[in-house]
Amino acid sequence: MADASKWTSTSEHAPESDLGVLPRAAGRVAVVTGAGSGIGQATARRLAAEGAKVGCVDLLAETAEATAAEITEAGGTAIGLACDVSKAADCEATVAAVVDAFGPVFALCNIAGIGTFANTHEMDTGQFDKIVAVNLNGSAYMARFCLPHMLEQGEGVIVNTSSSAGLFGQPYSAAYCASKGGVIQLTKAIAEEYKDRKIRCNAICPGGVDTPIIHSFIELPEGGDYKKIRKMMTPMGASKPEEMAGLFAYMVSEEARYMTGSIVPLDGGITC
Ligand SMILES: NC(=O)c1ccc[n+]([C@@H]2O[C@H](COP(=O)([O-])OP(=O)(O)OC[C@H]3O[C@@H](n4cnc5c(N)ncnc54)[C@H](O)[C@@H]3O)[C@@H](O)[C@H]2O)c1
Repeated sequence: MADASKWTSTSEHAPESDLGVLPRAAGRVAVVTGAGSGIGQATARRLAAEGAKVGCVDLLAETAEATAAEITEAGGTAIGLACDVSKAADCEATVAAVVDAFGPVFALCNIAGIGTFANTHEMDTGQFDKIVAVNLNGSAYMARFCLPHMLEQGEGVIVNTSSSAGLFGQPYSAAYCASKGGVIQLTKAIAEEYKDRKIRCNAICPGGVDTPIIHSFIELPEGGDYKKIRKMMTPMGASKPEEMAGLFAYMVSEEARYMTGSIVPLDGGITC
């Protein structure tokens, strides 16, 4: 197996999480999927620090609840909810539970995601289905069940998570690329459909972020060529989840009032 561990090193220039935090989300209700780890966890913390009441959603109750407990201990407001976003019924029940606890959802951050390397000609078709179901269908289902509340309030914002792999072809990642490319079109379709009703929808395309998912993209499949994945790397190294969280929080905030249908890379220049 080729060693692709080089792009996992975090840039020494990445700031610590002592960035200035404004109460931009005060009183807002936000749902964050993937909140038990990585980018979702950092975004849940950041939105709570900006004053939002946060529904922390993840596959495992323990991780979702741990993030919510940490936010609560820090003086914020959050609940943890177990939800498999690839299941529409789970998404519907989860959104209903957040609304019961905090009121209508204003912001949805779709961050839960999975992926792995595989040779396309050998990949497990069940795994293909699973990756698309979590990354793409899950984002669509959560939007489906949050949008009625946004329409009722007359405002709302959705921030989806695509990837640099949604913008360029990443080898050994057909399912992941297809799902993340789909997220881009999902984002644009929602933005177009609801822009006359004060509901914005944007997507962030992270490059390498130092989180557990990166370990799913370390080992190349049998016969994999390390040279083919060089374009996934940047001399800036990996970013930190908190840097992504800052962009999620901006997109949720009123400062991004004029931003909808935007697909924003945050990737150390790998898609330049
Ligand atoms: N880390 C990177 O380098 C990178 C790069 C580009 C895009 N992304 C995207 O960022 C998002 C967040 O990833 P991360 O880097 O924080 O990784 P992570 O593994 O730390 O977090 C992903 C979270 O999603 C949750 N999850 C997985 N399947 C789920 C399901 N069926 N239902 C609910 N939750 C589920 C996991 O439990 C985990 O908490 C993903 O969509 C990922 O594709 C990450």
